[in-house]
Amino acid sequence: MKKIVIERPGGYQRLKIIELAPPKPRDNEVLVEVFAAGVNFADIFIRLGLYKSAKEYVGWPITPGFEFSGTVLNCGRDVSGIAEGAAVFGLTRFGAYASHLCVPADQVYSIAENSKFTAEQWAAFPAVFLTAYHGLFQNIVLRAGMKILVHSAAGGVGGALLQLGKIADCRMTAVVGSSHKVDTALAFGADGVIDKSKEDLWAKAEEICPDGFDVVFDANGPATLQQSYRHLASNGKLVAYGFHTMLSTHGGFPNYFKLIYDYFRVPRFNPLDMTGDNKSLIAFNLSFLFHRMDLLEEAMQDLVNWVEKGKIQAPVLQQYPVEKVADAHRALESGKMVGKLILKFSH
Ligand SMILES: NC(=O)c1ccc[n+]([C@@H]2O[C@H](COP(=O)([O-])OP(=O)(O)OC[C@H]3O[C@@H](n4cnc5c(N)ncnc54)[C@H](OP(=O)(O)O)[C@@H]3O)[C@@H](O)[C@H]2O)c1
Repeated sequence: MKKIVIERPGGYQRLKIIELAPPKPRDNEVLVEVFAAGVNFADIFIRLGLYKSAKEYVGWPITPGFEFSGTVLNCGRDVSGIAEGAAVFGLTRFGAYASHLCVPADQVYSIAENSKFTAEQWAAFPAVFLTAYHGLFQNIVLRAGMKILVHSAAGGVGGALLQLGKIADCRMTAVVGSSHKVDTALAFGADGVIDKSKEDLWAKAEEICPDGFDVVFDANGPATLQQSYRHLASNGKLVAYGFHTMLSTHGGFPNYFKLIYDYFRVPRFNPLDMTGDNKSLIAFNLSFLFHRMDLLEEAMQDLVNWVEKGKIQAPVLQQYPVEKVADAHRALESGKMVGKLILKFSH
């Protein structure tokens, strides 16, 4: 089998491909021959050694990757309900950048024979849609008509938030960083798009929603968190779930001065002030949620149902052979791409 291994934090050259014997599944696991693995922004933070749960659960060396699709090759003794030869997609806490992967059977989902998505598209689905679902439906009491602002709305999680928000009949305002992303955000269902490369983000946001937004989804971090909070309506919720503006957008190395500067720019929210403002902050990271398979299961049931009913669009993919993993990271770090990236394995 092949897998990508990062021995220690750093640039693209740390993404090494190694060959070794495939693992054997434990009693509760299945061995999957991986067809494709999704690439997520978190994988960049992992490569740079800046991802808390990666340090906590794995350390070094590490193989990134939260999601995959493939074929079940072998089932552990206690596994039921899934057979060898089944086409599946799934979720793993790290390790999916590999041609073969052992995962607990309850983190693997069958792909229906006449599914609306291809195996490639399923590989790009779980991480961003579970994040969006968890943020919208498991952290907020969502009501039809709520006004929601989504930053980086043409990206993986952003696009998922727009689509799920529309399923819940909310009014979705998308923010994008470049003009070529406007059409993508509209295609995901945005009711309005703010192109911050051309217009003043917050002046336009006030024009669209003078009383403020009920919810703002912000994965930018220090660049916008403070203003996102300011632009909440009374009773509004700011959902902070990422910090991608802390990275520089080229070179593959962290700019440590920027990281330190940005660390001190992250706003500190005071519960006393928040109570007085009648606004609040929600923050989460899905990689700490694997002990709550009940929540992930509930989310996945709804999501798969919506996919097969045609309510969720197939992700727009950019595909890379696993040998080109560095190019995939480079593309994601550029901040210019839309849709989702996957790594393909040939067997
Ligand atoms: N908390 C969680 O559980 C969780 C789970 C999944 C993802 N996330 C976070 O959600 C965010 C989106 O993840 P994703 O995988 O879907 O990525 P993505 O949105 O497809 O790509 C990242 C986007 O961020 C924007 N961006 C702004 N500054 C950037 C910079 N310095 N470098 C690169 N991109 C920059 C760009 O969009 P614009 O220029 O249009 O803004 C870019 O397209 C990330 O921050 C990620 O860490 C959190």
